[in-house]
Order: sequence, then structure tokens, then C-alpha cells
Amino acid sequence: MAHEQAQPSDGIKPLTRREFLNYVWLGSLGVFFAEIGGMGLLFAFPRFREGEFGGVFNLGPASNLPPVGSAPQANTKGKFWLVHLEEGVLALYVVCTHLGCLYRWQEAQNRFICPCHGSQFQKDGTYIQGPAPRSLDRFVVRMLDAAGNVLAETDRVKKGPVPVPSPDAIVTVDTGDLLRGDPH
Ligand code: FES
Repeated sequence: MAHEQAQPSDGIKPLTRREFLNYVWLGSLGVFFAEIGGMGLLFAFPRFREGEFGGVFNLGPASNLPPVGSAPQANTKGKFWLVHLEEGVLALYVVCTHLGCLYRWQEAQNRFICPCHGSQFQKDGTYIQGPAPRSLDRFVVRMLDAAGNVLAETDRVKKGPVPVPSPDAIVTVDTGDLLRGDPH
């Protein structure tokens, strides 16, 4: 008995060149829109979680801050030095603005000093001396009320300390929002 073979007459028509190109075009459009949709989702959600570097660090109520005038406090996870001055709060990025070494607070000299090439900075991050081209970079600090409304935040032009509005204001540091120190 002879085997049956699929023939064009079985209802399966071969694709014409035009139909084939149309399918390829539609397929690439689908991939394109899927990618756009994926990118939209990426932008819709924060890329970093709270409490991880690149995200927001919640330091709790201002009453928990180290006392005004005390030595800067290193936040290892957030990669910043928390500084509490009369004028308010700063979060200085731990990386030197010269070639990227980690500078340290030197209590005896009352300043930050970089061990690599000796750049020095005041407690508020202002450049003093050395090869660093600018003052220390800093992250945006925000003071929030209990509902999450912003009461005060780092001024993007002055980049100075953020005044503490009340002892129960929530202090946050946004390590995804870096402001470059001013050149000297
Ligand atoms: S890397 Fe800090 S002074 Fe050069």
C-alpha cells in the first residue's frame, strides 16, 4: 500500500515571499513593544531597595542622630559619613574626589584626610588642601513627617547641611542621589 504524502492540495499552502516578510515584520514589532513594556516596568519600580546602597536609608527620628558637633559617623552599608552640625545634617560620600580612595575622619586634626595623596576636607566636606579638585560629594538628605511628606531636603545649589525641623522628623539619606562637591 502506497504511503500518503502531504501535497499542496492537502490545504497547506507554501508561504509566498511577501507573506514571509510580513510575518517577520510583525514578529519584530512584537519583540520591540515587549522590550518597551519591559523598560517601562523597570522605570516604574525603584531599582534599589530601601537600605541597600543606591537606595534610600531611613535613619529614624532626628532624636536618634548623633549629638550636634560629635565626630562624623561612618555608615558602611550606605557608603556615607553622617555629619550632624549646628546648621543641620550632611551625608558625605566616602570616596575622595581626587582619585577615589577612601578618606577618614581624623579627630585630632578635626578634619577628613585622604591617606592616598593627602587631600583634606572640613567636617562639612569643604575642600581645605591637597590634589582633590573639589569638595566632597554628598547624598541628598530628606527630613520627613510621619506621613512621608518632605519637610526639608538638601538644597541642590548650596548642597549644605539640612536643618532638623523637629526631633521626631524622620531622617533619610538617598544614596541614589549624589551631588558633586563644588570645585575650588
Ligand atoms: S585619592 Fe584622595 S587625595 Fe588622591
